[in-house]
Amino acid sequence: MQPPTSSPSPVPVMSPLDPHSFAGASPVRVRHLVLDLSVDFDSRTLAGTATWHLANPGAGAEAVFDTRDLSIEAVEALTETGQAAPAGFSVGAPDAILGQALRVALGPQTVALRIHYRTAPTAAALQWLKPAQTAGTQPFLFTQSQAILARTWLPCQDSPGIRFTYEATVRVPAHLLALMSAENPQQLDPGGEYRFRMAQPIPAYLMALAVGDLRFAPLSERTGIYAEPATLPKATHEFADLEKMVTAAEQLYGPYRWERYDLLVLPPSFPFGGMENPRLTFVTPTILAGDRSLTSLVAHELAHSWSGNLVTNGTWNDFWLNEGFTVYFERRIMEHLYGREYADMLQVLGRSALHHTIEEIGIASPDTHLHLALAGRDPDEGLTEIAYEKGCALLLTLESLVGRPRLDAFIKEYFARFSFQAMDTASFLHYLRAELLNREPGLEAKLNLAAWVEGPGLPSNAPAVSSRRFGAVAHALVQLRQGAAAQELRPATTEWSSHEWVHFLHGLPPTLPQEQLAELDAAFLLSASGNAEILAAWFPATIRAGYAAATPALENFLRHVGRRKFLVPLYRALLATPDGLARARAIYAEARPNYHSVATGTLDTLLNART
Ligand code: BES
Ligand code: ZN
Repeated sequence: MQPPTSSPSPVPVMSPLDPHSFAGASPVRVRHLVLDLSVDFDSRTLAGTATWHLANPGAGAEAVFDTRDLSIEAVEALTETGQAAPAGFSVGAPDAILGQALRVALGPQTVALRIHYRTAPTAAALQWLKPAQTAGTQPFLFTQSQAILARTWLPCQDSPGIRFTYEATVRVPAHLLALMSAENPQQLDPGGEYRFRMAQPIPAYLMALAVGDLRFAPLSERTGIYAEPATLPKATHEFADLEKMVTAAEQLYGPYRWERYDLLVLPPSFPFGGMENPRLTFVTPTILAGDRSLTSLVAHELAHSWSGNLVTNGTWNDFWLNEGFTVYFERRIMEHLYGREYADMLQVLGRSALHHTIEEIGIASPDTHLHLALAGRDPDEGLTEIAYEKGCALLLTLESLVGRPRLDAFIKEYFARFSFQAMDTASFLHYLRAELLNREPGLEAKLNLAAWVEGPGLPSNAPAVSSRRFGAVAHALVQLRQGAAAQELRPATTEWSSHEWVHFLHGLPPTLPQEQLAELDAAFLLSASGNAEILAAWFPATIRAGYAAATPALENFLRHVGRRKFLVPLYRALLATPDGLARARAIYAEARPNYHSVATGTLDTLLNART
């Protein structure tokens, strides 16, 4: 079919309804939140009020909010002049995934609703850590709201297409610092009361709170690090290039719209590598490798300040619009700072992760499409590497077809035009056709969008990726397969970064015997590596071979690190061994208290060991 060459049709594309929010369908929308919370570590609860100012209170007879495991104690309706009166409300039947709809009746004068509530000690977004689970001597609390967990710590319209500004007052035990996805304090308040303001509108999944024994260290005028005192020096060293990353990102795709960009280094139980909470990215301490080798993760979270936080996936079915653009952008930042050869390594590692994921979920599964169909399911299940790496591969394909200058101009304009708005897949395709594809006959046919968006696996027009630096890795693997001793590989490996090591370890023959692993370990001290990516790539080989010398390091890793991306493959590798189930369960029983609900949700199912 010949693509149309005319300008876009004036008919607006209707945004699809969010299947993961009761509030998504509510005509009455929120616009501003005033949050007032007390943090109680003893009872493991947050309690207080969420006052929601409504954008269009006249649009309906009720306002609908998402909640899950919250106790709603009372609701007041507020008038323009601030008069409060009790409001009628109802909490709907619980849905295992979505939680419960909170419906509040609106009076003719109502402009805002004040909801009095408290969280459950088991609230899925919250992880309450004992001092022993931190780097210091104080307890710690952090939230993880994406994808649909914000509703477990505040009643909200928990749909990525609904944005609001906010201010908050948070009371915490003295000597602890509270931080949010907002303007943050840089110093302790002796009374433990902190005030926050987020002036740019954000969706609920970007609401974030952390409380702990935290200190701040500036890196540049607008960047800095928060971490526990024991972690702060290492972190400031690791992220020394943060300002350069922000500058590079701005040069690529336009101004940074959130004023400050700080990082918060969390305790190791944080279930993700990073989370792009606006103004304050949360990161795992497992990227503190000492040699700055794992900072592409920071470039990734920073890139979300455009793809995700400015232009936001309309529903979780459109997740690739957040993550695919972000992975592409992340690698452009890394290329800008460290050169093409560095970025090429990331592309190759990403592409092999994609092939691995496609194999794992099966080419026939619709979960390998960019546009997902997650209605009725927990979005957490369907949000896979596909969105990241197939999404990035689509942009690489576009790059190969139109060239970087045109693609960059397109992306920059896309971010500018849809800033602080939601974008769904159909609307994006419409925009892409109008701005890029329709301007050159034959382009759409070459791209074959349908294969990318609604088709399986990796389409055949994806450009191949290759890495010159991985040539040496391939050579070492050949030597090893031909019987070379590990020591003989030494000269070739002296300059390797963790990326070469990870590629090497992934390339090991699947059935390497124990003796050879012992040799590799002796030559390269792999079990003793301080680099979590290297460990996570090494342990599966040791598990498969039953190489017992690595067991203490493996168990130590599983007990302390809560990052799901590492845990799942390691527990799977254990399960694939003869006595694996019992062993995995034994380790899990001990380690589970250190994991966030996001990780235990996955692992409970994997190990079939609900506790
Ligand atoms: N936004 C994601 C994390 C996320 C995704 C949380 C879906 C909940 C649901 C974040 O930007 C991310 O992608 N983190 C990655 C690191 C990245 C370098 C691929 C991670 O945590 O591994
Ligand atoms: Zn991401």
